[in-house]
Amino acid sequence: MRVFSGIRASGDKTLGNYSGGFRQYVRTQEEAAAAGGEAVFCVVDMHSITTPFEPEVLRESTLSVFAWLIATGLDPDRSIVFVQSHVPAHSEGAWLLGAVTAFGELRRMTQFKERADEQDFVSAGLFTYPVLMAADILLYDTDVVPVGDDQRQHVELTRDIAERFNQRFGETLVVPRGVYPEEGARVKNLQEPDRLMSTTRGAPQGVVRMIDEPDVIRKKFKTAVTDSGREVKHDPQEKAGVSNLIEIMAVATGASIAEVESRYDGAGYGQFKEDVGEAVVTLLTPFRERYDELRSDEGALLGLMKRGAENAAGVANPTLDRMYERMGFVRA
Ligand code: TRP
Repeated sequence: MRVFSGIRASGDKTLGNYSGGFRQYVRTQEEAAAAGGEAVFCVVDMHSITTPFEPEVLRESTLSVFAWLIATGLDPDRSIVFVQSHVPAHSEGAWLLGAVTAFGELRRMTQFKERADEQDFVSAGLFTYPVLMAADILLYDTDVVPVGDDQRQHVELTRDIAERFNQRFGETLVVPRGVYPEEGARVKNLQEPDRLMSTTRGAPQGVVRMIDEPDVIRKKFKTAVTDSGREVKHDPQEKAGVSNLIEIMAVATGASIAEVESRYDGAGYGQFKEDVGEAVVTLLTPFRERYDELRSDEGALLGLMKRGAENAAGVANPTLDRMYERMGFVRA
């Protein structure tokens, strides 16, 4: 059983990215191992150039996302963790799969339509993005693709592409299955609990970054917005701020919402906010220390990337060879 996850390198590295991203990847790693399988994690840098980008930002965010993946618990000895552009089979595979992808299918992709509407310059790469994503998945004989609901259409297209390839050229590719896990807590801005925690929008004081020092984190929680009541009760409609803090406490400690509520029954907001801050410091500090260590030695980090790429190529290259051969390419 093989699980494949594609991870976009973004600038955002907040508590929200931990809750909705890094934490889930570690879970995927453990679940794959428990099922006697293997998980593959790919930083999809080649997808990043399909919308406007800056070279320095691409470079920095690739290094940073990779380091965070390791720092938060992906284990290069048990999983394959690598950068897409380090394994040329991805771009080659995408080209081959272009032969069994219809123009009309790509034109129907809602993500393409949405993104294209946001841009002055709509690149050809944005249009063929789903074909590269299909190559990512299919090169690894992937059984399961855990993704957000927004990627459902792309995974369905990947299945259609695989089936079409198999029909046309003979059984070659494993047809993968998408799984769409319930999104866990969606962490909100501590100052504006009606919007998601993001570095691109919202009050910076309400954004907990994964690189924040302990005292910075404590202060952000101390000044978090609550309400005029005093009950630590989960009620996202009426008590957005407090509910967000309860959810963060649950993420940081592994407790359930109900457990957090009962533990703080009658405690008042002051103590609660302080404790949530402390729990987040305890959660993030080891990650940040490991991250700093990884970023302080770029040679070692590149070495980890190289090892991941070698492991990835060991799986992807034989699949790519099979594709070339079945399609009638002369292999010298
Ligand atoms: N398109 C995915 C996203 O936006 C990222 C991605 C690229 C991906 N290749 C993938 C996800 C392969 C799963 C499998 O989130």
